[in-house]
Amino acid sequence: MEKGKLFSRDKLKEIREQFYYVDKDASRSSRVFFDNAGGSFRLKKAEERFREIDMIPDCSERNHKMAKFLQEIEEKGKEDVRTIFNVEGGSIVTALTASQAMFQLTGAVAENIPGTNIVTSVLEHPSAFDAVGYYAEKTGKEVRVAKSNPLTGGVDAEEIASLINQDTTLLNVMYASNISGAIFDIPQIIRAARRVKPDLYIIVDAVQHTPHGIMDFSELDVDAVTFAPYKFFGVRGIGVAYISKRMANLPHHKLAGKKEGEWELGSPAPAQYAMITEIVNYVCSLDENMEAKTRREAFEGGMKQIALHERALLYHLLEGTEKNKGLRNRKGINVFMDKGDLTTRDLILGIGFDNIDYTDAVKEYEKRSVIVYERVASSLYSKRMLESFNLKGAIRVSPLHCNGIEDVDKFLEVTEEILKL
Ligand SMILES: Cc1ncc(COP(=O)(O)O)c(C=O)c1O
Repeated sequence: MEKGKLFSRDKLKEIREQFYYVDKDASRSSRVFFDNAGGSFRLKKAEERFREIDMIPDCSERNHKMAKFLQEIEEKGKEDVRTIFNVEGGSIVTALTASQAMFQLTGAVAENIPGTNIVTSVLEHPSAFDAVGYYAEKTGKEVRVAKSNPLTGGVDAEEIASLINQDTTLLNVMYASNISGAIFDIPQIIRAARRVKPDLYIIVDAVQHTPHGIMDFSELDVDAVTFAPYKFFGVRGIGVAYISKRMANLPHHKLAGKKEGEWELGSPAPAQYAMITEIVNYVCSLDENMEAKTRREAFEGGMKQIALHERALLYHLLEGTEKNKGLRNRKGINVFMDKGDLTTRDLILGIGFDNIDYTDAVKEYEKRSVIVYERVASSLYSKRMLESFNLKGAIRVSPLHCNGIEDVDKFLEVTEEILKL
């Protein structure tokens, strides 16, 4: 399965019908949308269920029938967050964005766990990197930054472990890079880190990887793992984290009367939980054999199909289709961080042209109805990561499993036109 496996034509048609704006934008113009890493295609059912539940005026913190109905929705949504990561117990944290959740979590560890340093990686999104910097300064700790491996586009477990010692308060590391697409070997990273310091606090930013692959924290004792529903077929306006029991019990902002370990502050929003449940329902529905399975098994089955289809799209982008030459086989195009093994990559590509700069190339793509995004070293969201790979920029191409070979062909044809400018 190194080259992945495309959904059948009928299956892909069925999938595309379940999402909004897959081939047209909101003004009804046809386009190919390859910027899902900035916010993914929206699952219709997630949007509809969100609206349906959000229309209900009742507060779930009451005892009447409708309040109890909303409480059940919240509980189910929280269980579904656990299903995504294959974890039990602990608590669920919500905030307006994944960045807000990350700052809260990083602060709780940095301010309460003894130690003199915090370890993170150069590839982290600013939400994690800057949270580490902010709280390290506030608590007088050193920040230790693991280097990237330009060959893999990721960060090696040994590199991270070499920075950890008995005085490390926290390891804050991402599951996959939103620049290179490299999936970090998180099980190995967590094991290597815990070999040095068994009770180390570990926070994982899974925002990039959640829509693309299976994660299983059942054996890993992670303290926190975050994701953003708006990048996972859901709605904007919420960032979510699962946290372990010991993490949940750290001092944090909390209404005094609430249960120990509860992190929700203020009225819960049941519609957000209903939306998460619809995302999990959808992934489970892609499982090919739904019989006699647990929800987690069905979720894994569905996510496996997504990952295989996306890998096949990545393969065709790189190697070409029946109609078009792939990016690897074209003079004048550079494919960055392009390590061979597609099984350790999310469906994200960084490319550059010899004949045109990143920003202009993105405009040329848009003129031809293809939406991609430039990551340039002048941006606060990209500078540190790009410099670690010795790059000045990259055009980020991030399709989703709702895309098909026709979209890849259109993208490759437009790329050919831009090459000739
Ligand atoms: C890897 C990664 N982590 C965290 C975030 C932050 O997510 P949010 O915009 O919800 O704060 C992003 C957003 O782009 C991301 O790509």
